[in-house]
Amino acid sequence: MNVALSPDPAAPEGQAPDPAAAQRAALLADALAGLSAPRKTLPSKWLYDAEGARLFEAITRLPEYYPTRTEVRILTESGPDIARAVGPGAAVVEFGPGDGAKAVQLLRLLDAPAAYLPVDIAPEWLDTAAARVAEALPALRVQPVVADFSQPFDLADRAAGSRVHLGFFPGSTIGNFEAEEAVSFLRRARATLRPGARMLLGADLVKSVPVLQAAYDDAAGVTAAFNLNLLTRLNREAGADFDLGGFTHRAAWNPDLERIEMHLVSRRAQTVQLAGRAFQFAEGESIHTENSHKYRPERLRALAEAAGWRAGASWTDPDRLFSVWLLDS
Ligand code: AVI
Repeated sequence: MNVALSPDPAAPEGQAPDPAAAQRAALLADALAGLSAPRKTLPSKWLYDAEGARLFEAITRLPEYYPTRTEVRILTESGPDIARAVGPGAAVVEFGPGDGAKAVQLLRLLDAPAAYLPVDIAPEWLDTAAARVAEALPALRVQPVVADFSQPFDLADRAAGSRVHLGFFPGSTIGNFEAEEAVSFLRRARATLRPGARMLLGADLVKSVPVLQAAYDDAAGVTAAFNLNLLTRLNREAGADFDLGGFTHRAAWNPDLERIEMHLVSRRAQTVQLAGRAFQFAEGESIHTENSHKYRPERLRALAEAAGWRAGASWTDPDRLFSVWLLDS
């Protein structure tokens, strides 16, 4: 998961910046702004500390959480078709590679891929993904790129010998962006990749509300723990005093915006202290922690076109739960 870092305000002059201190400062700034808003909110990127990443990994294996295994199924069952559509010799540029498992699956099905370029601001994710791919495909050129892809960045002449760049953004992470952010991301990706590039994009589909509800509020409570971990993180890294028992996880389908919203709901009227400021919560008041947009094909096409791409072939599963798209530039 990509985590944007801002410049380190805590680094004394002449000393090397401390990324952890910069991260804590950015978390505190976001928390102060988000908790001061008329509708309290926190950016979803802060869900992914080490424990959050571990819990998300556990979510992907839950029986109710269909996106990961459905995307894997699509890549497996439609693999030969996807490989034909992409063609030989592509250099795969993955935005936010996670543990590299999906890259291994994609690279194994493609015809003679030229290189793998995982892009992330967090070097530990890059190392994990690069090592996994290098182990699975020892002959492949692997060139990690440390960059914040929420900002413009340059691939320079990396993978210069390859025929075509194939951007890869699986998992429907695009759905965690607001529409404008999704368009900006896709536009930036297009500018970063070589002219003539294509993009393989995973996008979750609109479906029945009970299926969605269960996927984001599972019986074992893993998603609840993932959401509540954000408060543990704020207590630890920003010195807040959230009472974890005082909040509960809620996942709700927003039919107008076609997205699942995650909230942390206050069980009672209470006050939380953060950086010398008191934040009041009424009973039932929530902090909005994440959006997960679900797409109709026409909406996905419009999003791609707004960013200068053309949505080409797409693949889905027999139950039409999830989709994988090949965008042309
Ligand atoms: C990372 N992202 C695509 C997940 C999703 O489904 O929106 C994050 C998640 N939140 C709760 N469960 C999974």
